[in-house]
Amino acid sequence: MAYYQQPLDVTALPSWQALLQHRKAMQDFSMREAFASDSKRFERFSLSTSGIFLDYSKNLINEETRNLLVDLAKESGLQEAIEALFNGEHINASENRPALHTALRRPIGDSVEVDGQDVMPQVHRVLNQMTDIVSRIHSNQWRGYSDRTITDVVNIGIGGSFLGPQLVSEALLPFTQRGVRCHYLANIDGSEFHELSAKLNAETTLFIVSSKSFGTLETLKNAQAARSWYLARGGTEEKLYRHFIAVTSNKEAAITFGIREKNIFPMWDWVGGRYSLWSAIGLPIALAIGMSNFKELLSGAYSMDVHFRTAPFEQNMPVILALLGIWYGNFWGAQSHAILPYDHYLRNITKHLQQLDMESNGKSVRQDGSPVSCATGPVIWGGVGCNGQHAYHQLLHQGTELIPADFIVPVVSYNPVADHHQWLYANCLSQSQALMLGKTRSEAEAELRARGADEAEVQRLAPHKVIPGNRPSNTLVLERISPRRLGALVAMYEHKVFVQSVLWGINAFDQWGVELGKELGKGVYERLTGWDQPAAEDASTQGLIDFFRGRHRG
Ligand code: F6P
Repeated sequence: MAYYQQPLDVTALPSWQALLQHRKAMQDFSMREAFASDSKRFERFSLSTSGIFLDYSKNLINEETRNLLVDLAKESGLQEAIEALFNGEHINASENRPALHTALRRPIGDSVEVDGQDVMPQVHRVLNQMTDIVSRIHSNQWRGYSDRTITDVVNIGIGGSFLGPQLVSEALLPFTQRGVRCHYLANIDGSEFHELSAKLNAETTLFIVSSKSFGTLETLKNAQAARSWYLARGGTEEKLYRHFIAVTSNKEAAITFGIREKNIFPMWDWVGGRYSLWSAIGLPIALAIGMSNFKELLSGAYSMDVHFRTAPFEQNMPVILALLGIWYGNFWGAQSHAILPYDHYLRNITKHLQQLDMESNGKSVRQDGSPVSCATGPVIWGGVGCNGQHAYHQLLHQGTELIPADFIVPVVSYNPVADHHQWLYANCLSQSQALMLGKTRSEAEAELRARGADEAEVQRLAPHKVIPGNRPSNTLVLERISPRRLGALVAMYEHKVFVQSVLWGINAFDQWGVELGKELGKGVYERLTGWDQPAAEDASTQGLIDFFRGRHRG
């Protein structure tokens, strides 16, 4: 039986048991000492692929840890799972479908069968459709209702229909073509709509309604608001087709909304929302950076796919990162993981990885419905450096929790200003160094004495100055952000998440947990706006409803 039909209990595997023993032996492991005693530690625990260099030497590991973790991956059937992913098997068991985002970046000539049908011709047909619209907009052939050039594109979508495209189009701003500005409208909060629409001209704005299901409340409400806004500003129903296009797998709903059939770009149920930026959901990216750069993005992701599929686990970047996450989450009790990009252009990567990781691996039952026997996905958080250093890094350095971190930094800046980039890079490195080295009590005391403090003062302040150190981090270095390298980076995190899901036996591709809130939301809405409604299921919710109704009465 396939691995996803009958997942193993990872905690029962011999390598898991061996890791538990090894963890005890590692209790007093010191990274400081490991670096001091092994001049080759950096070479031993670093690797490079697809334009990304990974230094993972600042981790609580030695060769034995890596060997045992790799054993765990092998005993879990990871290689079989990777093949199942790429071959289009129904690894999303609860929804009985494949997860084939990797097909979206495969080159022409490849074939991938889903239930006996090769999907690659459709994939390339949609890429051609995207090429066509991008070139018509960029060459001013596609014009607004008053024949003016399109200058602004608003992507109306949320979750995976927003975060990936926003990350990439904003990260690749140095590659922007022809000055089409991309905006994102995601939340149902009217203030977001108000602030954005105030900057736009209806004559020159194109809306992309981006929703795999075309049933997402926030997106549909915003699409309706955008349509009313367009009509109130001189736009006509007849010319609506020049201002509204859609990306969806629910063509009928998009047509009912009023979008012309030939302006609807397809999505497939074998691509999950948070894995969809490589499909026509990436249209705002292509409009921002042009189709050839979009294809570079795909080829960077493809290069990571090939690496993931073929590299031995010991040298496999997504596998190594996933195993390190398991090491800390399941053997050291870490509950969160920080993503710390030291690059303005990558400032949105934390939000994208939050959805990617937390919506994929925030699960408590295995693929077969049985409860998991260990912790699964961590809380993903973080933000751009150096800003975080002046906000939450204090907790990373001296808080009570162990929080592994990924630092991501380019070597070259697109916008050198004096020596800013040297300082930015230096800060990134010094943060991971400080996490690892820490400051001992005797170092803290010596420092205070050197500053002339008397002994009472030394003893009073020293405990506050001690920094435990020995805190793990990975550093991912890129020459600078390019479509190819960004494609590889995002694909690498997708595969990292997948590897962890396989080892935990969970389904990374469904998201049933988000449904309950949506369902209850309808009942709360009825109670906020209707009359003679039954009381809410609980007094807290009813009390808060009363508060709202009291304010809006009459
Ligand atoms: O509610 C969660 C979710 O379904 C995500 O998985 C998805 O990315 C997002 O909503 C948007 O969904 P859609 O593209 O169907 O509007």
